[in-house]
Amino acid sequence: LYSPLQLARKYFNYYLKASNAKGHGVHSPFVFEFIKFVKNDRKHYADYSEIELIRKKLLSDNSAIEVEDFGAGSTLLKSKKRPINRIAASSLKPKRFAQLLYRVAKYYQPKKIIELGTSFGITTSYLAKAAPHGIITSFEGSPSIASIAKDNFKKLSISNISVVEGDFGQTLSPFLSNYGEADLIFIDGNHRRDATIDYFNQFLGHTHEYTIMIFDDIHWSEGMEEAWEQIIGHEKVTLSIDLFYIGIVFFRKEFKVKQHFSIRF
Ligand SMILES: C[S@@+](CC[C@H](N)C(=O)[O-])C[C@H]1O[C@@H](n2cnc3c(N)ncnc32)[C@H](O)[C@@H]1O
Repeated sequence: LYSPLQLARKYFNYYLKASNAKGHGVHSPFVFEFIKFVKNDRKHYADYSEIELIRKKLLSDNSAIEVEDFGAGSTLLKSKKRPINRIAASSLKPKRFAQLLYRVAKYYQPKKIIELGTSFGITTSYLAKAAPHGIITSFEGSPSIASIAKDNFKKLSISNISVVEGDFGQTLSPFLSNYGEADLIFIDGNHRRDATIDYFNQFLGHTHEYTIMIFDDIHWSEGMEEAWEQIIGHEKVTLSIDLFYIGIVFFRKEFKVKQHFSIRF
């Protein structure tokens, strides 16, 4: 895990090297379109306020729940009581990124979506609202957290999400064995090198040319940076976009030469 100072340095480097936020000078039409219509779409969608209201409630709820702490490891460390607001503050994707995921789903309209790491279901809800004809399967190890997520889906009248409870190490592979192919995959749990590479490899067997795979916290630690390098180097990956806090990979065959972009966000 990098220290805050190391991370700040990394961010500074990324910012200097990254392409301009508007995409000037980006020669890929696909990436230019992504920047213009997805990343930089500044419309205020009504779904945003509805979901952010739920986040606000979580952030002000100091009642404690018993959680199974998976930490950054795949094995169950310990179970302990933690206040909801502290979990919400530390593990939910900030609004800016959750809303970017919303726009990705809104623009590309994936039908089959997978999320690893439901937590309280904030990003899950964004994805579900953005792709109302899609079906989202989200994985969460802690039953008490999953149960709050399911309550939130009810409050938001969302019915296209199913939550698979249990350790990813136990639930993912049997689930995938009869799942077919996913259109959008968001990996946001268990941020360790080997686990991340393992999820990538498992998902690879369930992708098609137009699948979009998104990884959270790709610069969070040396291990995650190694995993990210390995992922974007994979022969099937034809295009990758680094937004520092998240990384997006594509498998489209129209990109004849592998390309990698760092873009300011
Ligand atoms: C960063 S949070 C997900 C946040 C959520 N995507 C959002 O932005 O709203 C990661 C979640 O993954 C769960 N998790 C981590 N490792 C796990 C594992 N090996 N098996 C099952 N769940 C795990 C944790 O309990 C935690 O709730």
